[in-house]
Formats: sequence, C-alpha cells, structure tokens
Amino acid sequence: MELHTRYLGLDLEHPIIPGASPLCDDVDTARQLEDAGAPLIVMSSLFEEELANMPLSRPAGSIAPPVIPADYRKAGVRVDPEDYFDRVYRLKHVLGIPVVASLNGTTPGGWLRYALAMEQAGADAIELNVYKVATELGETSDDVERDMVGMVDTLRNKLAIPIAVKLSPFITALPNLATHLGEAGAEALVMFNRFYQPHIDWPGMTPSRTLRLSEGNELNLRLRWAAILAERVRPNLAVSGGVTSGQDVARAVACGAHAVQVVTPLYLHGPDYLTTLVEQFVRALEAADVHSVQGLRGRLALGQVPQREAYVRANYYRVLRSGKAGNLSASGTD
Ligand SMILES: Cc1cc2nc3c(=O)[nH]c(=O)nc-3n(C[C@H](O)[C@H](O)[C@H](O)COP(=O)(O)O)c2cc1C
Repeated sequence: MELHTRYLGLDLEHPIIPGASPLCDDVDTARQLEDAGAPLIVMSSLFEEELANMPLSRPAGSIAPPVIPADYRKAGVRVDPEDYFDRVYRLKHVLGIPVVASLNGTTPGGWLRYALAMEQAGADAIELNVYKVATELGETSDDVERDMVGMVDTLRNKLAIPIAVKLSPFITALPNLATHLGEAGAEALVMFNRFYQPHIDWPGMTPSRTLRLSEGNELNLRLRWAAILAERVRPNLAVSGGVTSGQDVARAVACGAHAVQVVTPLYLHGPDYLTTLVEQFVRALEAADVHSVQGLRGRLALGQVPQREAYVRANYYRVLRSGKAGNLSASGTD
C-alpha cells in the first residue's frame, strides 16, 4: 500500500499527523509519537494575548530571535516565549520528523515577529491558528478576512518556511477566503479550529470555561468543506476535528485532504494509538480496493461525484424531509 503524501511541501510517509496540542510539546511524548509512526508533529500555540504587550529588545530589522528583558520576566508574564523557542529547538534535535510551530492570534501586529524566532529555532513550518470571535457591531466579515489575509501576507514576507492557516468553520464564503489565503502565500489550510463555547453554570449564572474533547459527529462539517475546496484552491488541505478511526482518515482523504490531524484519539488512547489508526487506514483502503493515498485523494471532491448536491443546498431540504421518526440518528458520522 502506497501511503505517501505531500503536505506543506514536505514528503510524509502517511497522512495521519498529531494536531496541535500540548502532547506534542513534551519531548518524551513527542518521541513516543514519532516511534508510533507520526510523520510530523504540530506543537500547541503561542497566543497573541500573551505576547501583544511584550517589549522586544531585538533591534528593528534584525533577524536575531527576540530577547525578553529580565524585568519583563520578573513582571510575572503568563508565558515565556523563549521557553517555546527552546522547546522547538529541543524537539528538532531529538526528533527526526518535521516540527510545526503554532501561533494563535487574530490581528496583524508586532507579535507576528515571533514567527521568525520559531523559524530560527528550527520549526519546519508555522501553523497560524486564527481564532477570532467578532463581537464589535461595526466589524464586518470583510474586516475579519482582510486581517487574516494580511497576517499571512506579513508572515510570507518574513519567513522562508511554509505557512498553514487553521481556520474557523464560521466563514460565510469559505472558497473565496481560501483563494485569497492561497494568493497571500498560505501553503495549507487546516479545517477547522474548534470553538470552545462557554458553559453557563446554574443557578450561579456565571459563564465558565469548558474544554471538551471532540466527538465523531464533528467530522462531517470538515468533510463537506474539504470536498468543496479540493482541487480548486492552491493550498493543501488538512482535516482536523472528529477523526476517530482509520476509516475517518480515508473519508477525509477521499474528500481531498492531504493530511489528517488527530488530537482527541491520542488523548483518549495514548500516543501509540497512532499506529492503530495507520493500520485501520490501510484496512479501510483495502476494503475499498484502493492502492494508494494518491489514488484516493479527491475521489469524493465536489467536482468528482455525481451526487454533487450532497455537499450543497439541495441536501438541506432533502435531509429535513427525510427526518421521520425512526430514521433519525443521534450522532456519529454513520
Ligand atoms: C488539550 C488540547 C489542547 C489544544 N491546544 C491547541 C492549541 O494550542 N492550538 C491549536 O490550534 N489547537 C489546539 N487544540 C485543538 C486541536 O488541535 C484540534 O483542532 C481539536 O482538538 C480537534 O481535533 P480532534 O478531534 O482530533 O481532537 C487543542 C486540543 C486539546 C484537546
């Protein structure tokens, strides 16, 4: 079985990669993931909020990594970016696989300079994790998208390494944005970020933070958009969210994914589960009489299937019309 894929300009032995999470920051766990066959890892994100006000001692125009002044460290910042750069550096020296660093933010700004330090620490690519909740009445979707494209444009001009953009699923016209991100220099789009919704405690009536692992029924949204974008936009596509099995990986590749990210399965079953996912993936391909990832990719893309309507509007009313009691399923990718 030929499982090779190309993602972010890198040759990968197979398309199943551990997605962004603290699992990939820890050297021992990252080693375990590599031993289990991970062809690449994505580190957790460095967040804009933690960096925005950080003074840099780096002279403008210098390509040296930013030096964090000692008094800033004393001021009790929540995160020391140099720890992050150290981790990139250590991971690169311990692992034989590519390491992708992740930056999380929403606005173009000086904090993007930290991407340069990630590159200098050895990162093979940057994943820009765009997590924007637009709350201002005057802010338009155009404003939000212009910022995203502007961030990619800024990074593209600074970095030599490839850039992936991890997107929100809440975009009105995703194909258009994907096209502009590609033109600005994004080599890959990761679909999608999960928006963690606040829980409302009752009767205390306070919003509280929740971090839930994902569920399999989140995958269909990703599959639909992968199929709609596949073979039509310049960036590679990665699916992230709701992948629970090797068969799900096969679904994502068939819909056009070059890579498939997993986090929840690794938290639930441990890093070694990656091997199981690869084995399941191979069995899923065999069951469908497919001999290579290349031969599978995009078979279910929008332009390839006779059932085009399954991805577009006609699906909406047909699904609702078919919703008689007895044939409704509670969850799952079925
Ligand atoms: C504990 C935890 C930490 C995460 N940290 C990050 C992060 O720092 N940056 C990021 O882009 N995504 C982060 N994610 C989201 C995952 O990368 C992924 O998009 C999401 O969990 C959906 O994939 P899954 O269904 O395989 O879990 C995190 C997820 C979990 C569970």
